[in-house]
Amino acid sequence: MKIIMLGAPGAGKGTQAKKIAAKYDIPHISTGDIFRANIKNGTELGNKAKTYMDQGLLVPDELVVDLVVDRVKQDDCKKGYVLDGFPRTIPQAEALDKALAAIGEKMDYAIDVNVPDENIVHRMSGRRACVGCGATYHLEYAPTKTEGICDACGKELILRDDDKPETVKKRLGVYHEQTQPLIDYYTNAKILKTVDGTVDINDVFQTIVDILGE
Ligand code: AP5
Ligand code: ZN
Repeated sequence: MKIIMLGAPGAGKGTQAKKIAAKYDIPHISTGDIFRANIKNGTELGNKAKTYMDQGLLVPDELVVDLVVDRVKQDDCKKGYVLDGFPRTIPQAEALDKALAAIGEKMDYAIDVNVPDENIVHRMSGRRACVGCGATYHLEYAPTKTEGICDACGKELILRDDDKPETVKKRLGVYHEQTQPLIDYYTNAKILKTVDGTVDINDVFQTIVDILGE
């Protein structure tokens, strides 16, 4: 099962992608996580990506496409995978389709997690990410057992650099301009499924499981 998660920044793509990956035992491939790991390790890719990410802009397509195309060809992706944060532009979607067609494959589902802009800034300001394992929490909606400490690994939680309200507003603008056209793209490809992302995390997940099957 090959799945794309679509949705505005903070819609809950990462939250749902992790749950899908665990239930169906497939890799979760998040381009945002890959860039953040590269930034943390001070790689050349990380340094390049950081200048765009800190401004709320998309990293150029050429820095993203090969990375994902190489990743989905690895052995652990044979039974499927869930893409989170990719594709994000029409050229990225076209490059993915082309690379998959060349190996006789195609995506099965594009799941759009739909959340209005009004809810997004509030969600982002309450989001906390673990510096150790990258797990994501929310002060109000997905709290940890001990405030400020990751349930999974015990490390410290931080507010992401790009979750400041000004940057979130910028990212929302970029989303509407560059990523939202993918809704039409995947509607035309007849693989788009839209789910209401404003309800409780487990209710969003149940709707997704109803679509994907047990
Ligand atoms: P990326 O990391 O992909 O960020 P994003 O798309 O902006 O998405 P987020 O991770 O912010 O949100 P999410 O939808 O995963 O929400 P989450 O589950 O955490 O990308 C970051 C940057 O990297 C980009 O801006 C760009 O610069 C670059 N980049 C990445 N991929 C790229 C690409 N392909 N091309 C070019 N550039 C790229 O949930 C948010 C919060 O809400 C959490 O606290 C969560 O606990 C809470 N929450 C989740 N669901 C619910 C719910 N149902 N109810 C209440 N709270 C909820
Ligand atoms: Zn952790």
